[in-house]
Amino acid sequence: MTTTSSEHGSEHPDWTRTGFSTRAIHAGQDPDATTGAVVPPIHQVSTYKQDGVGGLRGGYEYSRSANPTRTALEEALAAAEAGGLDVPASGFAFASGLAAEDTLLRAVLRPGDHVIVPDDAYGGTYRLIARVFGPWGVAHTPVDLTDLVAVRAAVRRGDSGATRVLWVETPTNPLLGVSDLAALADVARDAGALLVVDNTFATPYLQQPLALGADVVVHSTTKYIGGHSDVVGGALVVADAARLPGGLESPAGGTDVTGAVRFHQNASGAVAGPFDAWLTLRGLKTLAVRMDRHQANAAAVAEFLVGHPAAGEVIYPGLASHPGHEVAARQMRGFGGMVSFRAGSEAKALDVCARTQVFTLAESLGGVESLIEHPGRMTHGSVAGTSLEVPDDLVRLSVGIEDVQDLVADLEQALA
Ligand SMILES: Cc1ncc(COP(=O)(O)O)c(C=O)c1O
Repeated sequence: MTTTSSEHGSEHPDWTRTGFSTRAIHAGQDPDATTGAVVPPIHQVSTYKQDGVGGLRGGYEYSRSANPTRTALEEALAAAEAGGLDVPASGFAFASGLAAEDTLLRAVLRPGDHVIVPDDAYGGTYRLIARVFGPWGVAHTPVDLTDLVAVRAAVRRGDSGATRVLWVETPTNPLLGVSDLAALADVARDAGALLVVDNTFATPYLQQPLALGADVVVHSTTKYIGGHSDVVGGALVVADAARLPGGLESPAGGTDVTGAVRFHQNASGAVAGPFDAWLTLRGLKTLAVRMDRHQANAAAVAEFLVGHPAAGEVIYPGLASHPGHEVAARQMRGFGGMVSFRAGSEAKALDVCARTQVFTLAESLGGVESLIEHPGRMTHGSVAGTSLEVPDDLVRLSVGIEDVQDLVADLEQALA
């Protein structure tokens, strides 16, 4: 194992070559050079003393451009997504998942460009692409990403109007569709488009899209990475080799996506604040142990629901009946903590949501506590009336890390 000197002289392994939890706990997080504090301090500061004009200490000038707590998070996220791979990558932290998405799309698209989106994308992503970027002249086509023939058919080529981004979520929110990242990377490469993967549901512990050919990974760190329902945030991890599509040049000069994202992060300024970055970093450290428990509980909940007469179709990638089970088994380390099921009618779905006592009725997911929601009326209300509308009897569970017998008993009484 190679070793690296930290800024105060002590040696440590090259964290990017260590196991997932080791790098999540240590990468970017050397003990504080002045005090030895083992946790990066919250640098709650907007500006930095200069030693003469332009004499920056450690490159820090103003906290929109860079802040040491945010740097720690950005380095840790890059190590989480790209560690162990021969894919150098850079992390960027934002105020929310949608702020990360907005910054990326502004950096890589121009009016006239075309984007392929999953036909069951997270509603907020679809709203951003359709209703914010649409009026700015960006076209989009929703496609079933499990159908590679349909994806290839949706690709637009040519000097103008060409497909520049293939946007992927796997598993998707809330229908838990699973698509083949390596195959989609081939389609994107052939089209000269960027492959962007929203890895929020899988997390870097369970799935590393950069290893399978993705150019950019997107996260709502609000979810599993933060993990405690106490902070909103977003992230991008960009492969340093990724180039802007269609010969585009970054306003900062150059054609690398990393440079363009860095420019736009500062120019638009939707950055994570220091306390939010610190909370997210704290969550990241325990991601692996939480995910192990989330998915063990989710598997037990899915099995319980399969055997229950009041639950219709049960959707969980870990079930052999899931159409994406084999692909998920190949490209993921486990099947995650989200389970969806059909209750038979909207009234029944709303009724279950109203009756649970351990599962809290709330939007969002990925926290230690179990949540239940009705996507049609809650998280995915913004896609009602579009081709992305979700079934009205769908119930989504974010299975937490409580004792599993209490979760199953709660669903049993709610479904009775
Ligand atoms: C898969 C997915 N991507 C992106 C987002 C947006 O993230 P945020 O709510 O942090 O802006 C969400 C939010 O639910 C999500 O579920």
